[in-house]
Amino acid sequence: MKTTLTVNGETHELDIDPRVTLLDALRHHLNLTGSKKGCDHGQCGACTVLVNGRRINSCLALAVMHDTDEITTVEGIGTPENLSPLQSAFVRHDGYQCGYCTPGQIVSARGMLSEFRQGWPSHVSDSLTEAPDFTDAEIRERMSGNLCRCSAYPGIVRAIRDAAP
Ligand code: FES
Repeated sequence: MKTTLTVNGETHELDIDPRVTLLDALRHHLNLTGSKKGCDHGQCGACTVLVNGRRINSCLALAVMHDTDEITTVEGIGTPENLSPLQSAFVRHDGYQCGYCTPGQIVSARGMLSEFRQGWPSHVSDSLTEAPDFTDAEIRERMSGNLCRCSAYPGIVRAIRDAAP
């Protein structure tokens, strides 16, 4: 099936099986291997990408569903030669150990910081009359979809706080 994926500002024409997930399309058809496959069941967050600025687990989405969307992967956030401020903060604060979950953590943190700048418009704050503060507890809650088997959570929280506006 023909589909068009716009990833990190570049448009790609693909002819793929409609059963291919967005994660597999990114990794195997576009060679963007930053997004990782951890559980393949929407439980670990290693495959997190942004679709039109919102975080999703790309292992749960079919590539053909995102024909007209803007997709951002970790490769679109920074490069080893030119780290983004968020990525630099992860390095400074030891926000990783083995590094496998780190791309998903970085993309999720990018999405979370943009939610914060927009006043936290998400399901977490739906029942609140005011947007919650940018506390460590709030960061943990907002990042709870991204697991780290090494438990680098304190460094991850410090990095996000450091990179926040
Ligand atoms: Fe997608 Fe774990 S690989 S959530």
